[in-house]
This record gives sequence, structure tokens and C-alpha cells, in this order.
Amino acid sequence: MGEKIPIGSDHAGYELKEDLVNYLRELGFEPEDVGAPGTEPSDYPDFAAAVAGPVSRGERRRGVLICGTGIGMSISANRLPRVRAALAMNENMAEIARRHNDANILALGGRLLAPQQARGILKKFLETGFDGGRHLRRVEKIEKLGPG
Ligand code: RB5
Repeated sequence: MGEKIPIGSDHAGYELKEDLVNYLRELGFEPEDVGAPGTEPSDYPDFAAAVAGPVSRGERRRGVLICGTGIGMSISANRLPRVRAALAMNENMAEIARRHNDANILALGGRLLAPQQARGILKKFLETGFDGGRHLRRVEKIEKLGPG
């Protein structure tokens, strides 16, 4: 089996999440769907925690979160230690989020992206490595940031 990738959404990201679960399988990954069961209203922080928790604890390398805009998911997921969730609206953002920020969670806006766009962004996120070097120093400084 391929790498396990937790993926979750609230109601607003549900349809795109369904498509991306299939796409992850096509790419040879093992998606772990921890998202809302359907389009009934639900609360995005619950699903952000379900994906970001295993990444924060080092049990999973990376994950995917989808809400209406991707904003609520990224704000929520980034509260957890060692989580670097990046909202990407295009492939360039996904590539730079990996190369410069070593992003370990991709946040997407289900109400803003067509499935084909989202697939391209997800593929770029998954296939792009971290550049390291000066970017490593900066990423390490993120973990040193803390409450006042
Ligand atoms: C739900 O209506 C919406 O607020 C949520 O999916 C997300 O976009 C929040 O950031």
C-alpha cells in the first residue's frame, strides 16, 4: 500500500474532498478520509484537528484539508505544533509552499476551485520537495515562535 494521507473537509469542502480521495487513490496513495460525512453543516476545526493531529504527532508526514475557502482549515491546523498548513490557490503556491516553507498540510478552498485545478495543486504539493538551506533556518524559527 502507498503512503497514508489523512484528508478531511467540512460540508463546504465535501464534494471536492470526495474527488480528491479518488485522485489520491489513482496516484497510488492510501487516503484516510476523516472528513464530514456529507453536506450537512459541520465545524471545520473538528476536521482540521483530525488531519493535523497525526501530522503534529509525527504519525503522518502530510495531509489535506478542504473547507469553503481553505482559510478556516489553515488557521485551525496551524495552531498545532510542527504543523505548517498552506493555503494554495494555484500550483505555483503549492510548489513554493513545499520548496520554501516545507508545508506539511495542503489547505484548499472547495468553493473556489474546480476539481481539475485542485487535482493539479494537490499533485504539485505531493511531488515537490523542500529546498532546505536558508529555508530550513527560517522554518526552524517558526517552531520557536510561541505564546507571548
Ligand atoms: C462554511 O460556510 C465556511 O465558513 C467554511 O467552510 C470555511 O470556508 C471557513 O473558513
